[in-house]
Amino acid sequence: MSACRIERLIPALAVSEGAGVTVHRTIGTPALRNLDPFLMLDHFNSDDPEAYIAGFPDHPHRGFVTVTYMLNGHMLHQDSMGNRGNLRAGGAQWMKAASGIIHSEMPQQSDGLMRGFQLWINLPAREKMSDPDYQEISPEGIPSDTHDGATVRVIAGQYRNTRGPVADPNTQALYFDVALTAGHQFAHRVDPQMRGFIYVFEGAAAMQGQALPLHHLAVLSGGESVDIDAATQAARFIIVMGRPLGEPIVQSGPFVMNTRDEIEQAMRDYHIGKLVQKKAKFAEK
Ligand code: CO
Repeated sequence: MSACRIERLIPALAVSEGAGVTVHRTIGTPALRNLDPFLMLDHFNSDDPEAYIAGFPDHPHRGFVTVTYMLNGHMLHQDSMGNRGNLRAGGAQWMKAASGIIHSEMPQQSDGLMRGFQLWINLPAREKMSDPDYQEISPEGIPSDTHDGATVRVIAGQYRNTRGPVADPNTQALYFDVALTAGHQFAHRVDPQMRGFIYVFEGAAAMQGQALPLHHLAVLSGGESVDIDAATQAARFIIVMGRPLGEPIVQSGPFVMNTRDEIEQAMRDYHIGKLVQKKAKFAEK
């Protein structure tokens, strides 16, 4: 059985987003424009309220899905269509922006740690102008499975007999948060067609003898298994994989479409107040 290897290591780049919040970006930087089907990965990680309190006021999205996973902190999500949702530590939100959403993501705390990830997953051409949709997942709604020193919270996909609440039918994405104790190995069979990455956010780990340093995105080569060792110290990381869409990607900020014309249309729609075409359904799990 061929094992996945590290194809590239991308160090996180500090980027100012929203109203001046520092995020640590890996996918969506000059070093890695995208990793089909993933368009962006931001890690927010700060215990300084000055650095996060301004949050992410109203901004648009069109053409893709966002998945926000909160590790610590509390954020209120509101959109221009009246939907509201709370993102709490250990919970997640899957948002299909599709034809268009304008929303805000605002911290609901004035001190303490704010930590988590936002991932953008591309939509295929046939879905880009479909209706928006949401799924909010409470911390209790994310199941976990502990096996041989690895505790795996399953946000999407399946680990052993545990299936996550988020389903992304276009990419069959898997998204795990893995806490590995020192001296143990995490092993998982994967579909060799899948593309993906590992991002270590606590401790350090290794893969096939190659180090997985803290706050770096490790792009995985194709293979039938992922084997990660925490030889000398505990580690915590996310592993995310999905089926590539293989379609042209044209991005301009918060709009990701297949052609330049579609991007110009999105900009025109936004300027004349027609970006939001359909009120989204809001489902809680
Ligand atoms: Co947003």
